[in-house]
Amino acid sequence: MIPKVRKAVFPAAGLGTRFLPATKAQPKEMLPVVDKPLIQYGVEEAMHSGIQNIIIVTGRGKSSIEDHFDVSFELEQLLESKHKSDVLSMVRNISEMIDVCYVRQKEALGLGHAVLRAKELVGTEPFAVVLSDDIIASDTPCVRQLLDVYSYYGASVLALMEVPREQISAYGVVDAELVSDNGRQNRLYRIRNMVEKPKSEDAPSNLAIIGRYVLTPEIFECVESIEPGSGGEIQLTDALKLMLRNRPIYGLKFEGTRYDAGDKLGFLKATVEFALNRHDLGEPFRAYLKTLCIQ
Ligand code: G1P
Repeated sequence: MIPKVRKAVFPAAGLGTRFLPATKAQPKEMLPVVDKPLIQYGVEEAMHSGIQNIIIVTGRGKSSIEDHFDVSFELEQLLESKHKSDVLSMVRNISEMIDVCYVRQKEALGLGHAVLRAKELVGTEPFAVVLSDDIIASDTPCVRQLLDVYSYYGASVLALMEVPREQISAYGVVDAELVSDNGRQNRLYRIRNMVEKPKSEDAPSNLAIIGRYVLTPEIFECVESIEPGSGGEIQLTDALKLMLRNRPIYGLKFEGTRYDAGDKLGFLKATVEFALNRHDLGEPFRAYLKTLCIQ
């Protein structure tokens, strides 16, 4: 029987250098897109995919993430006394949303290293990994789409997206062959090889790994066996490449729109599009945008 995926790991100990100075004294995971921190989008996606346990890998200066998912007595009392029941229930929902555990990554030594920090909390179960920089808007949550493939094959599954050649060197890139699967026509791949942040001329394809993974627990020993790779960091892509020697790994070109919210332009795009889609803000915001004389 294929074991169920109950846990999701959120690496959140990175330094957020792409978003300085905003991230000098606050975690990038707490930057709000409209009114919700980046990490909450990922947590909600995992929750709506049926995941029950969230493991956040934090580091120094990240305590506001823990506070965000904790009970806020003073705020709740104040909202209660002012009879602001809508806002109160929204604030309570965040802490009641899900069961969260934290583990520290003392040094930001790479994504593979961050995932390895969750080994004790994950144990010997399959688990999801969610990078909260990547916000994915879709009808079926992206993690759910990966879980559907996982529950059929019982193997690790990565989210894939086609990216322009000139941007490919910012990603893990796969060499993969299409799997004929009627339910997911032209979207499901079996991965043959992968490489982290190749030069565009060396990239094996234009299929990039996006920040959603479902992994089987053998990944931990693979991370333990690899040397630092691209950027001198312990890369998850290198561990997956090692795992490929013994296990199949699938890739799914997911359905949905991905925003790279860890990048300033991607963050602005997410902010504008999410605001336009909000029932309370969309109309006045659209009217405002129309007044801008954009060439
Ligand atoms: C990480 C992964 C990379 C992946 C990317 C997706 O890179 O190492 O393989 O393509 O996330 O967002 P980072 O963006 O942390 O440098």
